[in-house]
Amino acid sequence: MKVLETKNLVSGYGETDILHDVSIELKEKEIVSIIGPNGAGKSTLLKTIFGLLRPRGGVVELIGAEVTGLSPDRIVRKGMSYVPQVDNVFPSLTIQENLEMGAFIRTDDYGDKLEEVYELFPLLQERKNDKVGKLSGGQRQMIAMGRALMLDPRVLLLDEPSASLAPILVGMIFEKIIDINKTGVAIMVVEQNARETLKISDRGYVLAMGRKVFEDTGKAILENKEVGKLYLGG
Ligand SMILES: Nc1ncnc2c1ncn2[C@@H]1O[C@H](COP(=O)(O)OP(=O)(O)OP(=O)(O)O)[C@@H](O)[C@H]1O
Ligand SMILES: [Mg+2]
Repeated sequence: MKVLETKNLVSGYGETDILHDVSIELKEKEIVSIIGPNGAGKSTLLKTIFGLLRPRGGVVELIGAEVTGLSPDRIVRKGMSYVPQVDNVFPSLTIQENLEMGAFIRTDDYGDKLEEVYELFPLLQERKNDKVGKLSGGQRQMIAMGRALMLDPRVLLLDEPSASLAPILVGMIFEKIIDINKTGVAIMVVEQNARETLKISDRGYVLAMGRKVFEDTGKAILENKEVGKLYLGG
């Protein structure tokens, strides 16, 4: 079953269209990656799917219902969470306060969810009363992902979760993505660490100049010499 689909999505800023007719999908239980050069439109694609940018054409469907043009706060209530590329935590709040902010629209008791997030990220529980501003990039990324999970999403969008992390932490973040996926969350991830991401992805899309130029299983993309030369640095 498809949990997320775009059909011929067009989006951009000001006078300029950045995305041109982008059609992609994410099925239940999948990890799907979006790779491509700097400026290809990867972040623009996630922002448009999540309602931060209004599409100029095309359709976005979430769990079988059209959400095209809805605002992020409506979309989040329909089961999709998003972790932006930058500024994805509140530095002046503690870890626990950051996670609680993630549950802002929940009117029920979110204690169980908080426990689940701490199980996924034990390090966060150990330091739950620490202010986030003092923490490392890897820890902040875990907090941002944990916060996005507080609303129990069916679909999670991640924009460059491993960006600017030390190599040892990159592997840890990918392991967490797999762990989150195993809890039943379908994940669409944009990444610069394309090879590492494709290894954990069921499928992938290559985006260039705002267009979908290639799609296949993660394994097939990794084995494709042409795509490797053009988009994966040889
Ligand atoms: N707020 C904005 N206003 C105007 N143009 C923008 C804005 N954000 C991005 N762009 C332009 O849109 C194009 C696509 O940018 P986008 O951030 O989506 O690319 P990306 O694939 O995520 O790149 P990166 O790998 O560097 O994160 C670029 O040409 C960029 O300059
Ligand atoms: Mg980007």
